[in-house]
Amino acid sequence: MCGIIGVIGDDDASQVLVDGLRRLEYRGYDSAGIATLVGGAVDRRRAPGKLNNLDETLRSEPLPGAIGIGHTRWATHGVPNETNAHPHIAGRVAVVHNGIIENFRSIKNELGEQGARFASDTDTEVVAHLLDRLLDQGLTVEKAMVALMERLEGMFALGFLIGGGEDVIVGARRGAPLAIGWGDGKMYLASDAIALAPYTPQVTYLEEDDFVIVRRDGADIFDGAGRKVSRPVINTNLSGAMIGKGNHRHFMKKEIHEQPTAVAETMARYLDPVFEEVTLPGLDVDFAKVPRVTLIACGTAYYSGLIGKYWLEQVARLPAEADVASEFRYRHAPMPEGGVAVFVSQSGETADTLAALHYARSQGQTIVTITNTETSTMARESDVVLPTHAGPEIAVASTKAFTCQLTVLLSLAIAAAKARGTLSDEELTKATRALASLPSELARALHIEEKMKDVAHGVADARDVLYLGRGTSYVVAMEGALKLKEISYIHAEGYASGEMKHGPIALIDERVPVIVVAPSDELFEKTMSNTQEAAAREGQIILITDQEGADQAGDVAERTIILPRVDPLIAPVTYSVPVQMLAYHAAVRKGTDVDQPRNLAKSVTVE
Ligand code: AGP
Repeated sequence: MCGIIGVIGDDDASQVLVDGLRRLEYRGYDSAGIATLVGGAVDRRRAPGKLNNLDETLRSEPLPGAIGIGHTRWATHGVPNETNAHPHIAGRVAVVHNGIIENFRSIKNELGEQGARFASDTDTEVVAHLLDRLLDQGLTVEKAMVALMERLEGMFALGFLIGGGEDVIVGARRGAPLAIGWGDGKMYLASDAIALAPYTPQVTYLEEDDFVIVRRDGADIFDGAGRKVSRPVINTNLSGAMIGKGNHRHFMKKEIHEQPTAVAETMARYLDPVFEEVTLPGLDVDFAKVPRVTLIACGTAYYSGLIGKYWLEQVARLPAEADVASEFRYRHAPMPEGGVAVFVSQSGETADTLAALHYARSQGQTIVTITNTETSTMARESDVVLPTHAGPEIAVASTKAFTCQLTVLLSLAIAAAKARGTLSDEELTKATRALASLPSELARALHIEEKMKDVAHGVADARDVLYLGRGTSYVVAMEGALKLKEISYIHAEGYASGEMKHGPIALIDERVPVIVVAPSDELFEKTMSNTQEAAAREGQIILITDQEGADQAGDVAERTIILPRVDPLIAPVTYSVPVQMLAYHAAVRKGTDVDQPRNLAKSVTVE
């Protein structure tokens, strides 16, 4: 993970670097640092923890210089302290790095035997030493970069400052994104275009194994063999405005409340409300002939893929599999000829999902990506992009991106059902209307906030929490458990309610809240039987259902949260709201860092 920024201009670099890092903090916030060229030599400032700490350091010890690189870290090798913070310096070279250098131990041993002294526990520091040595041998920067890239194994985006020579910043990429920004009299380097949005809309993404030498007036890009290459300049049209929290205390709360609008914006791309017709722009696939859809993603995006699987199976009678990318990428899974592989990712940069995409490509699948970031690596490497229009999601815990992903997946399932003739006209209209009702149903679901807050305060002291559900509600249960552990640090498990008696029931006693996600659908009674089993073990049952469900459930639950009744097809979308709110208010009650929880990063760009 980690975010990289670089600038070469004529005035204060540190301000641009810190501003860029603020936009990249979603990639990690364990430490931050910048380095500039001061009088031809590299100098740096670093601080552990969030970017504000670096800001403070810079206030007391400003760093002059018009050429610089910066980094916000998500620790992989070495604890998050100042010594391990980037930039790392060896001799004339300063480096910032996103990724993992897999062969750093052997390089470190080798350089150690030659007398190199290392200050940090990171894998990155060897890169600075290596490049410094190659330059010592009299190689030009181009030749040294070719030799350096040959030595490095793993995945990386790198940014370099080199003292004592020409005024340049140098970048390189393998398996991690890196963009050049074309400004007016200033040039930039960054992990993504968002970091550069206030400075330039014109960016060029490096391709695999490219490196670049950036000067004030332009950039020369080289491929891995050192041949000069040209890569397209694209116009990103991203807004440079810093996203604010509005009247909300946290981004997560704001993003939960933005869901009706975000889903409406997303849906506008796929649903014609007048003709009640769903289309998937750009996806030229005959679903009647597709043997299987494979949905692959990580974390919350995986859960949306899993709900997508249920929908594709139920609505379109289309064989579908959902898998976590980190497993799928190494499983050598056979994929059928003519198959469609759907990758779901808010960021479009998740390393495991991207690697799985490459595997699916090698298996001849049609590659479809559902992403909130149309400029992302996954979007660029796909045959078809089905964008979500959630707007920037800043909180690490995904909320509106999830419900927007579900909106696209339900559109996909309805379009596939139509192509396969698995729904009657009447059923098709009903499903399409259910989809169309999502924004208003989400708005109605938001009204339960005060009740959820109260429930959350009761849950905040628990050590373990169990979430149960069946069908798509099982997936909502898993998503609810993920949200709770991610931001409140309470241990939580999401289980298929029918599976509970095969093990997890042993956990239940009077101290364990059991959150039951159960809209009144065809599985309701089954879920209730399992709820009775949990109640018989004295679990504190918190039932999330609709009025009909509440009437049927009797007095099994200690607390019942009643949501408006919706078509069961869209229940996983609206029932996501209470579980998001439960996690949010439990975290606020506990006083954790809701938007930037410990150990996490918004975008996981390492394995
Ligand atoms: C969810 O709240 C997470 N922070 C996390 O699971 C996330 O969904 C996952 O890392 C996938 O990210 P992506 O959508 O950017 O690929």
